[in-house]
Amino acid sequence: MIRTALLAASALLALPATAQEARQTANFNAPVKSFGRVSYDARSLMIDGKRLVVWSSEMHAFRLPSPDLWRDVLQKMKASGFNTVALYFDWGFHSPKKGVYDFSGIRDIDRLLTMAEEEGLWVMTRAGPYVNAELTRGGFPGWLVNQRGRARTDDPEYLAASDEWLTRINAIIARHQINGDGKGNRGTVILHQIENELALTTPAQRRYMDHLYAKARADGITVPIFHNDQGRNGYWVPEDSKVEKTVPGPNDMYAFDGYPGGTCTVTGQPTRGSAAPDWGYYGPGGAKGGASASPNTPGFLAEFGGGWFDYWGSNGGYECNAIQRGKRFQRVFYGTNLANGIQIQSFYMGFGGTSWGWLPAPVVFTSYDYGSALSEAREVRPKAEELKQLGGLIAAVPDLAGMIPAGKPEISSDRIQVYHNKSPETDARFLLVTHKPSNGQTSDRFTVTADLPDGRYTLPLQLDGFDAKWLVAGVNLGGQRLVYSTSELQTILKQDNRDVALIYGRTGEAGETVLRYASEPKVTVLEGGATSAFDTKGDLKLRYAHRGLTRVRISGGGRPDLLLLIGDEAEGAKFWRTDDVLVRGPALIRSAKVTNGVLALTGDTREASPLEIWAPSSVRSATWNGTKVATTRTHSGSVTATAPLAAPVDFALPALTDWRVAGGSPEAAPDYNDRDWAKIDNRAYASITARADGQPNMLMDAYGFHEGDVWYRGRFTGTPDAERLKLHYGAGGAGLVQVFLDGKLIGQDEIPAGLPRPITTGAPGFTLPDAARAPGEHVLSVMVRNNGHNWDLDADDFHKEARGLVSASIEPVAGASFAVPIAWKINGRSEDLFDPVRGVPNNGGLDGERRGWYLPGFNDRGWKTATVPAARAAQGTSWYRTSVDLAVPKGQDATIGLAFGDTTKPRSPVAYRVLIFVNGWNMGQFIAHVGPQRVFPIPEGILNHRGRNSIALAVTSDGAPGNALEEVKLVTLRNVKGGLPVRMVAAPTTPEQLK
Ligand code: GAL
Repeated sequence: MIRTALLAASALLALPATAQEARQTANFNAPVKSFGRVSYDARSLMIDGKRLVVWSSEMHAFRLPSPDLWRDVLQKMKASGFNTVALYFDWGFHSPKKGVYDFSGIRDIDRLLTMAEEEGLWVMTRAGPYVNAELTRGGFPGWLVNQRGRARTDDPEYLAASDEWLTRINAIIARHQINGDGKGNRGTVILHQIENELALTTPAQRRYMDHLYAKARADGITVPIFHNDQGRNGYWVPEDSKVEKTVPGPNDMYAFDGYPGGTCTVTGQPTRGSAAPDWGYYGPGGAKGGASASPNTPGFLAEFGGGWFDYWGSNGGYECNAIQRGKRFQRVFYGTNLANGIQIQSFYMGFGGTSWGWLPAPVVFTSYDYGSALSEAREVRPKAEELKQLGGLIAAVPDLAGMIPAGKPEISSDRIQVYHNKSPETDARFLLVTHKPSNGQTSDRFTVTADLPDGRYTLPLQLDGFDAKWLVAGVNLGGQRLVYSTSELQTILKQDNRDVALIYGRTGEAGETVLRYASEPKVTVLEGGATSAFDTKGDLKLRYAHRGLTRVRISGGGRPDLLLLIGDEAEGAKFWRTDDVLVRGPALIRSAKVTNGVLALTGDTREASPLEIWAPSSVRSATWNGTKVATTRTHSGSVTATAPLAAPVDFALPALTDWRVAGGSPEAAPDYNDRDWAKIDNRAYASITARADGQPNMLMDAYGFHEGDVWYRGRFTGTPDAERLKLHYGAGGAGLVQVFLDGKLIGQDEIPAGLPRPITTGAPGFTLPDAARAPGEHVLSVMVRNNGHNWDLDADDFHKEARGLVSASIEPVAGASFAVPIAWKINGRSEDLFDPVRGVPNNGGLDGERRGWYLPGFNDRGWKTATVPAARAAQGTSWYRTSVDLAVPKGQDATIGLAFGDTTKPRSPVAYRVLIFVNGWNMGQFIAHVGPQRVFPIPEGILNHRGRNSIALAVTSDGAPGNALEEVKLVTLRNVKGGLPVRMVAAPTTPEQLK
């Protein structure tokens, strides 16, 4: 029965609750709001009227430029227990130029949404216009930085621009909604986000939000619309919330994000410095309340830290982040969220991927691995196994959706707390057992006594170190009645007339499970050890230790047969559940389809693996990745393969040899032909960066050059007063400027890493050599490498910070006001892309790029041969090219990376940087002396695993001895048998094919 709720407003006055005392922060009487097939009340989301815990994680298709692999990621998410995927879309990725949009090839969002549907995942779409996401300009297109109108307001110029994007992206999303688009198209999009973390809440922002909401509705979005608040601030809560100090918005649901629990950024070691926050039923409530800020909508974390990003110049935090926000953390923190009524949770990221080319914002380098459950190399990390167990419970116990607090149990230890929730409909219970505070790390044995639906029970429990237990009690599972279990439930399935349940616990720990029967059932221990006792209440109590896999059959007692599988945690992790099949053994199960009695299983093996299958009796035989498997029946109603599934075979990677090199930066040569370059003039200046009076507008963006390298050439007449060149430039995180006079490098400046808040501009001075004082014309050539525009996190137009040169002046020493006039020209990669197939992030404006030196089909036979490692590099940028044949065994899925120098260290003692092109794709930037990334995974589809590959490296150096390309080699980062078929991504191969 639904408890009558106190109104949230009265709860605001109360003192903070302790962890087990719920405060009524939600209005459980709130009416159901319906948006077609999707509806919600204060307790949960519903689909077709059925409550659902939305259990989601995020991926960015734009961070994996090989569309066939999107499916691999989605399948791995599904297999890891998620029912939903959250997707950001990057406006700038699709729009090189105002009015120009591309949704083809690696930008095919329609295909992505179809795949998500095919893989059985619900979808939350997050289309901006602003997304943040550690993307250059936070996802805004390059051309937008030239707008004078303030972004993320109702400025008409900005609204017109964002409408261009929204019209197109909303149309695609509308077709994939669960509600359909009214034209016969339908998909699995259930929720839609407008804007992201808009923390400025002025009237101009409110009008902007109103516009975005109306636009989405006008474009046919019919599912509930939410916004993602930057923390639990109560910004943009639905109008009817009426909670003090919150900011109302037009959106239907309130959602927020949070990244608590520490990172590895400072220490480089996992820390457990803070407890899981109570952001809902058990929290302090009030205006800063999540569920409480919006009492009529369910708790909704649109992002919860599933890892963290990493910075230029760090010591390499991804493996550490995977642990920090990995096993145990997930149990403690995600569990606390669930107990607090956060019924919609999405982990950011589920798969981070690669910020290839010029995608990254200054805060990050190429790898966006994020320490997420699926690594950048698409490895299913150990933390994904824990997620599979947690997601398995959520799927197996629908009663978890819409639970409310149930009262405080008695606990024998004050170092322990228990969150006790119940389903108002079925009275089923969820007991989250954590330390008190939840980041406690002691080892405790204790009891919890609670009034459960089947009576008052005392549960003997144990928590060893940082950990939590997700227990259910008083719940009907299939044909069984679970009174309680001190083990955690991973899954239960109904097959024919029996139930198969899998429970698990920490290795060696004692467990007990109590089931209710009408009369004493027959208990047969098939394997392992368990004892049982039956009492007058009808309770069958099983006792056991979690060690390996124990199998118990229980029959009779007035219920269908039950096969109870009791595993230790690692044993549980070997199980995979698909719709009605349970499989044990392989490293991954992707799909299980039954046709004409044949069960076709697909999946991966990392090593020779056993295969055991529990399937309905209609299944008579099975195949594994298309090959028939010989099986024998077991005594526990399963079949096992008579021979193990094969392991992947190791394969050798060829060395990279036969390098060729073409030198220097031709743009630096005094006689370089810059006839077609744009003249620097006084065009409108839209940047937030102040500049000296009287300077022309030198910014690269003003001339339509937004990504990567830009070149300036300035002519001046030599004079005895020319002592110093003073520059002011913007170049993003670890950006670079190189300055040449008459073809010779006179200096360079690198922006220091400034971890974790990047420095993005510089103002160096260069002493001019004597040559500048000689009479006649001289040429200054300046290359600025733009390592990304800022994001616009605070809605202050920070993305409009200057990039390229802001000003340049030749000065005499000390103070004189004299300045030498310089006639400047500029060139870069324009908004009219020469390689539109690879798209916006792929190219900057190096001469070699425009000539197609990065492409596999470029004929470099005229270039000099070179050896790598190289002892010395030319000043400026040199291009190194080679090709290599790969022969990854058929039927194996590997991730191969390019590694530079000594990969055991985050940084080289020598200084140089490399733009990495593989088969024409810009797969990232290596900065030897900044680090930390030295290994660059190249996804299959970009890399040809069975054929020829071209590697082109644009190496930039100051030319000092040793500041040259170190050893470059291919490395295997992951190798499994299985995988999916991956086609090469079609793109131009020769310079002639460029526009
Ligand atoms: C959130 C933001 C995301 C991303 C994340 C950190 O605050 O919404 O876009 O930037 O932080 O990775």
